[in-house]
Amino acid sequence: MKPLVLVIGSYNQDLYWQTPDFPQPGQTCVGRFSTLPGGKGSNQAVACARLGVPTAFCGAVGEDTFGRALPAFYRSEGIEEHLVFKRDQPTGNAAIWVNSEGENEIVISAGANGLLDPADIPQSVLCQARLLVCQNESCPATMSWVFEQARANGVTTLLNPAPMRADFPLEMLRHTDILVPNQSEFVELVTRLGVAPEPSFGLQELAALSHGELHRLCRQLGVPTVIITLGKDGCFVDQENEYEHVNACGCIEVVDTTGAGDAFIGGLSAHLVEKGEGAVAAARFASAVAALCVTKKGATPAMPTRDEVETFLADVGAG
Ligand code: RIB
Repeated sequence: MKPLVLVIGSYNQDLYWQTPDFPQPGQTCVGRFSTLPGGKGSNQAVACARLGVPTAFCGAVGEDTFGRALPAFYRSEGIEEHLVFKRDQPTGNAAIWVNSEGENEIVISAGANGLLDPADIPQSVLCQARLLVCQNESCPATMSWVFEQARANGVTTLLNPAPMRADFPLEMLRHTDILVPNQSEFVELVTRLGVAPEPSFGLQELAALSHGELHRLCRQLGVPTVIITLGKDGCFVDQENEYEHVNACGCIEVVDTTGAGDAFIGGLSAHLVEKGEGAVAAARFASAVAALCVTKKGATPAMPTRDEVETFLADVGAG
């Protein structure tokens, strides 16, 4: 079946340690190690595909052991892969520490992700998708080009600007239909665009805004739909003439928050293309996908299946 959702972005090999506490500078901690598939782009594609939506992933990896294992991995997930292998570059990787509270600290090394080029993107796949999803872990100039192409071909574009970076091309917002930043990414975007309400605008000032003030600020970004993720406080869904705060799903035991944002994007994308019920309904569904993700360790292994999400929604009375 033709993919409805195309994710273009990063694959990282996650080098993952569980440790009671994060090490202090100069300290050595003992932890438990695993190596897992990861990277924001790949995680988002896996999250979407596990929900039963035909999904394709395009990204750049190295010609190394990690990269060579990937075609089989995507086959096993039912994802149509368009991987490009970059010579003399390692597959991207991420060092992840997770403490006993389920919080994480992550350092990434882009490797081949940083070399993803417009020529690596199959035009036919790009033009046939209904929704294109990108993040900020690959090459920013390529992502910007891809968004322009997608828009010109009538494909809806969804940008998760994570992680925010100094070379993020602000003009990409002009080709974005749906923008999904977290709070710090949102603060940085409004600051760099020069539309922040005050020079010292930060997370505290953001939290102090009324919903009406936040709506007016979102509208300054020039993007039709803005969804700000608020962690355990849910998300704020903003569109031209309406806005709504969507609560996070409560009653869950947090094991590891790694990949929760990616689960949200996968859930949002799946619901948008499948149900067509709009951004608020999609955000509610995405919150359930993210809630289930944090109950398991790792990013990719924690992405729930459609059955798991439906059972969870029925249990919490939202099915
Ligand atoms: O969002 C989680 C992801 O961020 C991890 O899988 C890691 O690879 C980093 O990119």
